[in-house]
Amino acid sequence: MTVSDTYTPVLPAPHGDAGTDAGAPLDAPVAAAWSPGSWRGHPVAQQPDWPDLQALRHAENTLALEPPLVLPDEILDLRSSLAGVAAGKGFLLQAGDCAERFSSCTEDGIRGKLRVILQVAILLTYGTGLPVVKVGRIGGQFAKPRSRPTEVVDGVELPVYRGDIVNGPEFTPHARRPDADRLLRAYHHSSAALNVLRALTMGGYADLGQVHAWNEEFVRRSAAGQRYEKAADDITWALRFMSACGVDTRSEAALHQIQLFTSHEALLPHYEQALTRYDEQRRTWFDTSAHMVWIGDRTRQIDGAHVELLSGIGNPIGIKVGPSTTPGQLRELCERLDPDREQGRLVLISRLGAGKGADLLPPLLRAVRDAGHAPVWACDPMHGNTFVSESGFKTRRLSDISAEVGEFFTVHKEEGLHPGGIHLELTGDDVTECLGGDLDEVLDTHLASRYETACDPRLNAVQSIELAFRVGEFLREQRSS
Ligand code: PEP
Ligand code: CO
Repeated sequence: MTVSDTYTPVLPAPHGDAGTDAGAPLDAPVAAAWSPGSWRGHPVAQQPDWPDLQALRHAENTLALEPPLVLPDEILDLRSSLAGVAAGKGFLLQAGDCAERFSSCTEDGIRGKLRVILQVAILLTYGTGLPVVKVGRIGGQFAKPRSRPTEVVDGVELPVYRGDIVNGPEFTPHARRPDADRLLRAYHHSSAALNVLRALTMGGYADLGQVHAWNEEFVRRSAAGQRYEKAADDITWALRFMSACGVDTRSEAALHQIQLFTSHEALLPHYEQALTRYDEQRRTWFDTSAHMVWIGDRTRQIDGAHVELLSGIGNPIGIKVGPSTTPGQLRELCERLDPDREQGRLVLISRLGAGKGADLLPPLLRAVRDAGHAPVWACDPMHGNTFVSESGFKTRRLSDISAEVGEFFTVHKEEGLHPGGIHLELTGDDVTECLGGDLDEVLDTHLASRYETACDPRLNAVQSIELAFRVGEFLREQRSS
């Protein structure tokens, strides 16, 4: 099949119901019909200045012919799991890299991330007694919004690094030039990562019998790692107890496999549109680049392209809710993205910063609840707590992260709402990017030794486990009182 260089827009739904409003009064304002390409008529924030539009068209047309990365059935499974979370019967763990690198889409790289996600998830399940819905920032989290379009070093100004899907991080004109061919490379790296993830989560690696094996040697030496070992002993005993009671634990698939859903920020609408496909059976469009996609704090403008594109797809949609979000803006966003008030549709991810939750969160929670939406509310305690340390590294303190999660739980309790989940930037590696930790403290002077992130500072495996214990404690307190 040949790929033409002019962009061929995907046609709107053959059944023609997207955007029409049969029951509306005749004088009601008519919204322009949604189609996968209707975002092109809206202002689009945070885009690279693509230097070669023909290459961009070529990438879009090529992607539009590629198979989907995820299937509507899986997306709908996630929606029903999230509906359970919204109803207070589960907890969402969304976690992974700030920015994935193409070079870390290796078996080891994927296995390392999966390992720490499994550890954090099992601690949350163990600590709370709730099923944990696991969503990775993985298999496609390649695009980054940035605070400035360019970067100046020693008087030289170049385009800023926007993630591997756009350009390279090296400070050279060649690396920083946005390259549309990277959209195709991102697709293929996502596909390879998903392939390994599916094999690891469906094969023996995610088996609960491996709960000790997930604890890496360097983690085991830490205080948090030893506490994890005790929890893992309890879990192993519980499995033996179940077998002794006559439960055939070998044939219980839930004990041997997990479902890890994928997610990323839907920052590049050209890429997301090309992977948006119509499902005849459900008469719905789905973005098949990931199970869940989210809109970042810098691209949530109500009339913007990102909101337009995501308003027409059937995936669960995340919205980052930063400190400048007003209750009115949030209500409008929810109306636009969840007009039918469906459970499992919206995940509102507050990222306010430690110390701000008590003031800012209650009016936001109430605005959404009073408008009749039942989203999952999740706490991202990372992005509101970033600062530059004395040694010059962009970092976050584990104590601030933990404090913001605590405030999130307290406010939910006061409002009578379920604190539905957490959203973390973490890695299974032994990096030094975030400060703190109880006994194994990372200090400012340590940051330089293993600061490896392509964008924001991530919790290392030990810090992640420590935080998982705290979240488990917060949630257990909330449920028992
Ligand atoms: C992110 O999640 O990496 C991010 C950039 O978040 P936010 O949009 O909340 O700043
Ligand atoms: Co980030």
